[in-house]
Amino acid sequence: MTTERTLSVPGLAYGGDYNPEQWPEEVWAEDMRLMREAGVTMVSVGIFSWALLEPAEGTYDFSRMDRLLDLLRENGIAADLATPTAAPPAWFFRSHPEALPVDRDGRRLSYGSRQTFCASSPAYREAALRITRTLGERYAEHPAVVMWHVHNEYGCHNAACYCDTSAETFRRWLRERYEDLSDLNHAWGTTFWSQWYYDWDEILPPRATGAVPNPTHQLDWRRFCSDELLSLYTAERDALRVAAPSTPVTTNFMVMENFDALDYWRWAPELDIVSNDHYLMSADPASEIDVALSGDLTRSLAGGPWLLMEHSTGAVNWQPVNRAKRPGELRRNALAHVAHGADGIAYFQWRAAEAGAEQWHSAMLPHAGTESRIWHDVVRLGGDLKALAEVRDSIGTAEVAVVWDWNARWALELPSQPSSDLRYLDLVRSWYEPLWRSNHAVDFVRPDADLSHYRLVLVPSLYLVDDAGAANLTGYAERGGTLAVGFHSGAVDENCHVRLGGYPGAFREALGVRSDELFPLLPGETAALGGQVPPGATGTLWSERLYLKGAEAIAGYTDGPLGGCAAVTRHAYGTGSAWYLATHPDADTLATLLDRMCSEAGVVAPLAGPPGVEIVRRRGEDADYVFLIDHAGDGAELPVPPGTTELLTGKRIQGSVSVPAGDVAVVRVPRPDEAGAA
Ligand code: GLA
Repeated sequence: MTTERTLSVPGLAYGGDYNPEQWPEEVWAEDMRLMREAGVTMVSVGIFSWALLEPAEGTYDFSRMDRLLDLLRENGIAADLATPTAAPPAWFFRSHPEALPVDRDGRRLSYGSRQTFCASSPAYREAALRITRTLGERYAEHPAVVMWHVHNEYGCHNAACYCDTSAETFRRWLRERYEDLSDLNHAWGTTFWSQWYYDWDEILPPRATGAVPNPTHQLDWRRFCSDELLSLYTAERDALRVAAPSTPVTTNFMVMENFDALDYWRWAPELDIVSNDHYLMSADPASEIDVALSGDLTRSLAGGPWLLMEHSTGAVNWQPVNRAKRPGELRRNALAHVAHGADGIAYFQWRAAEAGAEQWHSAMLPHAGTESRIWHDVVRLGGDLKALAEVRDSIGTAEVAVVWDWNARWALELPSQPSSDLRYLDLVRSWYEPLWRSNHAVDFVRPDADLSHYRLVLVPSLYLVDDAGAANLTGYAERGGTLAVGFHSGAVDENCHVRLGGYPGAFREALGVRSDELFPLLPGETAALGGQVPPGATGTLWSERLYLKGAEAIAGYTDGPLGGCAAVTRHAYGTGSAWYLATHPDADTLATLLDRMCSEAGVVAPLAGPPGVEIVRRRGEDADYVFLIDHAGDGAELPVPPGTTELLTGKRIQGSVSVPAGDVAVVRVPRPDEAGAA
């Protein structure tokens, strides 16, 4: 949270998207009663209500919203009031068909769902700002409104529009970036394939074309699309600020689920409160790791606590098969988000819809009503969050930093790479997973972040890095840090130009290695590894012919075309050390290597627990809060220091805390001086 505009809801906020316009008003009274029963403290309202709030251009009907906000106020429930701009009404598109987006293939889409508009459309921008201003002026002083929720999940369905208006805006963005057309030509390498531009107007969005489009063109397009949506957000935010200067503003991010359209490092500083939406993927056998990773990434973007704006109580409706949660999973998921820094938990949505595109999406109040497991769990969670109120504002404790960068992600996944099997998120998660299993707390950082307070800095994948980022990372090792870099990193600069002289480009010197040829591995192909790695170790995805230039070989290939060549290296660099993983080691080997790096760097986990029990610590002013989450379902008994209280039960603990099978415990551990007094 970046400014003094903070959330005036006590303790940990609890609630969800509340869309009462889907129901007759008689139902609202029951909603209030049940929200109170569940301990709901804040709901997001109005997210998709543009068509009802503005039935015709410039004609407003706020009567329903007035009644709703008054009702919430009477019931002591705060409102996170949304601007409804993610779903323009049909009347808008009938007068402005040019505001409908065009896809890569030149097809103009139709209205009839949501988020189907062109981000560069002047008509959309004007209409969105008009309803935002009007809403802001009307409700700035309403006592129920504690936060503005701008739009909804920017870019979720319309990350890019390829129409002529977008093309013009893209050219303006490029002019600002390059000023001189020949600089753009050099940055994009347009001498290749006769792509040289003589006039700015020749430049188009990367629309469908016969062969591979220019990589830098595509990369700049992604940067532009992220910035263009960001400018919509900041315009709405600024309009709200005029009306309500002290009300915090958020918009809900989607840092996971393979959504990669927005460079959230650029977005986060523009929010008063960072919030995120997270959903489990049914096909993920260990989705608890995804929860943790997403929480850590959001906390890192926020630079502190954040809000979980959406999650599901059970199945979603947008995957091929939508799995319900297992017993206890709702509680484990929600409290894991809190463990990783959430100061509030909210769901999509309050009451399961009877009709509409999301009628098969779970909710806090399911179709089955209150006689249901979900309702029981929802009420219980309300009690849990109340019991954890004091955890609010406590912070993370990571000693390990993992570099995360959207530009590197976009560039890595461009077509025509040495291998199309490299998925950024998979690579980062494979490094994150063993750290998670060992209960090592992790922050995510930008390549140019201040790294001085981390003991270990990991770079699972950083294909693209600019000179400043590379110097920051290598300087960290040189000044005594432990740095580890994954294969195919440092390969290109910010313009996607290959760094010449051998791989891994920008990191060669610090890593003390150089390779002259890349040997990516085929799907299913493995390379046997020997050396200081577990017996039977293998690499997949990648190999390269690596020469040692000062580094020692930790592991090497035992046969194949690269037999005898190093695959994992370690270099004493300056007063620190720099590791290179020139292949993708199997999970056990990667865990062994990371474990060794952690112990060499002096990284300590908060508490050792049995496998499958996640242990996360948040640091408060006077105490630490240790979350123990049993994902394995075996239950656990863990020793705790004297003076400890289990917050969910309120019991003072003597000697050890027990975590029931599949359940959660949260202990308050006083700092040593307070423990002494206890
Ligand atoms: C997104 C949206 C919500 C809803 C949920 C369903 O997160 O923001 O409006 O569609 O997905 O999972």
